[in-house]
Amino acid sequence: MVGSSAEARSFSDREIGAAKAAVAEILLTEDFDPAAVVAEPLPPVVMSNGVGKEIKKREIVLGRNVHTTCLAVTEPEANDELTGDKDAYMASVLARYRKTLMERTKHHLGYPYNLDFDYGALAQLQHFSINNLGDPFIESNYGVHSRQFEVGVLDWFARLWEIEKEEYWGYITNCGTEGNLHGILVGREVFLDGVLYASKESHYSVFKAARMYRMECVKVDTLVSGEIDCADFKDKLLANKDKPAIINVNIGTTVKGAVDDLDLVIQTLEENGFHDRFYIHCDGALFGLMMPFVKLAPKVTFKKPIGSVSVSGHKFVGCPMPCGVQITRLEHINALSRNVEYLASRDATIMGSRNGHAPIFLWYTLNRKGYKGFQKEVQKCLRNAHYLKDRLRGAGISAMLNELSSTVVFERPLDEEFIRRWQLACQGNMAHVVVMPNVTIEKLDVFLNELIEERSAWYQDENVQPPCLAAEIGAENCACKLH
Ligand SMILES: Cc1ncc(COP(=O)(O)O)c(C=O)c1O
Repeated sequence: MVGSSAEARSFSDREIGAAKAAVAEILLTEDFDPAAVVAEPLPPVVMSNGVGKEIKKREIVLGRNVHTTCLAVTEPEANDELTGDKDAYMASVLARYRKTLMERTKHHLGYPYNLDFDYGALAQLQHFSINNLGDPFIESNYGVHSRQFEVGVLDWFARLWEIEKEEYWGYITNCGTEGNLHGILVGREVFLDGVLYASKESHYSVFKAARMYRMECVKVDTLVSGEIDCADFKDKLLANKDKPAIINVNIGTTVKGAVDDLDLVIQTLEENGFHDRFYIHCDGALFGLMMPFVKLAPKVTFKKPIGSVSVSGHKFVGCPMPCGVQITRLEHINALSRNVEYLASRDATIMGSRNGHAPIFLWYTLNRKGYKGFQKEVQKCLRNAHYLKDRLRGAGISAMLNELSSTVVFERPLDEEFIRRWQLACQGNMAHVVVMPNVTIEKLDVFLNELIEERSAWYQDENVQPPCLAAEIGAENCACKLH
């Protein structure tokens, strides 16, 4: 037993020396081959050891269970290199997968990903293991990096969100979630005893951050639009008056695409005695790049007292791999930053290795489109979103579109197969389409025609009625029998 009196005696230096010599003796006398590998590299398949026990079926709660269709990894046969059978098999799997991707891309509407891009020019870089581990502004000893692209992209976003080059710090993250994890961590480092406030419609990554950092987290109510309710925010602030506030402000909520009123949030903080005792992180995963181009939108700018902004790179920007951008004030980052001798760099990021390809994709698309190109795409998305909302309402379907948004919320289709086919994101009785630059009027027409036709069959029976969405999207947007 560990710690028992018989074993817990200390050994003298002489005894330790003798033991070491004995081990060395064994190593030298046995046939010791330092390059030897285990005889059987194939690990046994893990089996249930309850003989005769009924194997319980895994409960499927959400989505489909991929294990039934997964592509098993198979061991190469001894003669595979000669026959080329394995290569041919893998090529056919990949060709079929490519076809599926093409079909799934064609029928995608529910998630905020811009699937329209051409990065053919970057194919030549696939042969390199590009890794930007560490601080983007301090070169590491690992030379196969893309920091020069990364910092160029960061400068572009710093200009968009109005902060001087000398005053910001940031990095290309692996996704919007990492941006939120970082922004909230910086807030926590600035105010160690701060309480995190986030509207209840914030993305789950915000609450994940609170759990990870064991922070006190207060959920604030929302208006029907999905925006943070500043009256409730005020009440909750006053209940924690003695503690600084760390606030997550949504620049586009996940389900309704609602934009929190940043100015009103700041005003609420200042009017209730929180001057200089707050840190605001703006979660712009969805619309962080769209809002600056919308005339009526509250401006996301570091000229206001915000601490950080993050955006996803694979959403509106259109990057083929998940990534994101995180920008914060340089003055805040020193508390977080550590020298890492092994890298010959500093590190204030969340992860270790960082995808060095992502900054190049971002750099490439920002160069091609420029601020003006993105502005045009924003306008197109907003117009197409209005078109979709109007046609839904015209067909007698409950639908809502927030003023600053391209997310159209509507009645959840009755048929799960239809939902899967169009990859709609659903919550309760709501479904949504996020109109991204690749969502054209033609695509919307195909979707709408299919929906309207199939819907008439779903509700043929008088006893089956479309759901009432008044509570979720407001009575004025609900087209149920009552409203
Ligand atoms: C508002 C909001 N924040 C954060 C995220 C997380 O972004 P990512 O999926 O890039 O991690 C999302 C994703 O949809 C989102 O909608």
